[in-house]
Amino acid sequence: MEMKTVDSNIHLDVEAIRLNFPILTKKVNGQTLVYFDNGATVQKPIAVIDAINDYYSHYNANIHRGVHTLSREATELFEQARQTVAAHFRVVNPQQCIFTAGTTDGINMIAQGLAKSILKPGDEILLTAYEHHSNILPWQLWAHENGGVLKVIPLLSNHSLDIDSISTLITAKTKVIAVTQVSNTLGLITPLEPLLKLAKQHGIITVIDGAQAAPHLPVDLTALNPDFFVCSAHKMYGPTGIGLLYMREQWLKTLPMAKTGGGTIKTVSFEKTEYAEGALRFEPGTPHIAGAVGFAAALKFMNAVGVSNIYQHETELVNEAQHQLLQLPEVEIYGQSEHKAGVISFNLKNAHPFDVGTLLDKYGIAVRTGHHCTQPLMQLLGIQGTVRASFAVYNTKAEVHHFIEKLKRVIHLLA
Ligand code: ALA
Repeated sequence: MEMKTVDSNIHLDVEAIRLNFPILTKKVNGQTLVYFDNGATVQKPIAVIDAINDYYSHYNANIHRGVHTLSREATELFEQARQTVAAHFRVVNPQQCIFTAGTTDGINMIAQGLAKSILKPGDEILLTAYEHHSNILPWQLWAHENGGVLKVIPLLSNHSLDIDSISTLITAKTKVIAVTQVSNTLGLITPLEPLLKLAKQHGIITVIDGAQAAPHLPVDLTALNPDFFVCSAHKMYGPTGIGLLYMREQWLKTLPMAKTGGGTIKTVSFEKTEYAEGALRFEPGTPHIAGAVGFAAALKFMNAVGVSNIYQHETELVNEAQHQLLQLPEVEIYGQSEHKAGVISFNLKNAHPFDVGTLLDKYGIAVRTGHHCTQPLMQLLGIQGTVRASFAVYNTKAEVHHFIEKLKRVIHLLA
């Protein structure tokens, strides 16, 4: 079946946007691709592909190291990318924007830095019950090696975060609150304002995992003012292997480095080293220069469309999918809410999510199935995994309807 991709959304010309994504015309198993695995990684627009191609074709050189023209041009592109990232997240000083390999890398750098400086045996770290493994394991490793304690903010019966419980969980030993801004499995948005306010009142360090929020929502880091924020470019229309670690200005000088090497220094002797200031202190080795260039191009793409428009469009898709799924008695939805960002997670009663995902793939529909790197959440829900449909700006209501039609066939096949 050829799908119509006309969308009723008045804010976006989704047809025109789709033309920017060459992969969307690909046939999968003889069917037009319907890509609903955007939470895992999103597809790339031509502007990003071209920016990376252009960088390698015309500017490739190592940065911060050469006096020759190419090196100076590459350095300028890299530092311009930092400025673009800073402007996107409303950060006044671009030095507060450190390029990492991605969200996981950023959280590890924060956890290791705090472990070397602030955290003491017996200290407590607060996480949410819907945290992704990347925002559990670095803290758990520290806790196991140092007698630290992880405490979990529970969920309410509708799977949203029990914000009121936070004040009862905080003690004099609570040093860090590390939370995801959007649950990658449920799509639920964490109410950050009350959480950050409480943390501030108690002098607790805040770490925001923005990996699943930044692709869908406008994020103003000056207004939010957390201690740390991380995200990944590849979930924001950019390349893999590059991400942002934002830190409050005070941490630029005081957070110990988790890793070091060439590029992070001013002077080195065998006796002692004087380190660089600002972002470079945290960027050892040759960085992912083309990645930074691609990240900047991706943010320009997002801003040309409008991040609020993206959020509104994806919310319409989530609500439509949720509305349609609710008509099917065989479906159980997790985290049912209209206050979500781009994700819907569900199961077919009596069917394994892998079977559902495999059959949907036969129809050219890509969804993620399994525990989504949130095994503690799965244990809490008493399930092994879910089927997750996650949306991007190029998805359409027609695709949602097509997905529902095919899901009905899957239900029939698995009955
Ligand atoms: N964290 C990514 C996801 O949720 C990989 O799929």
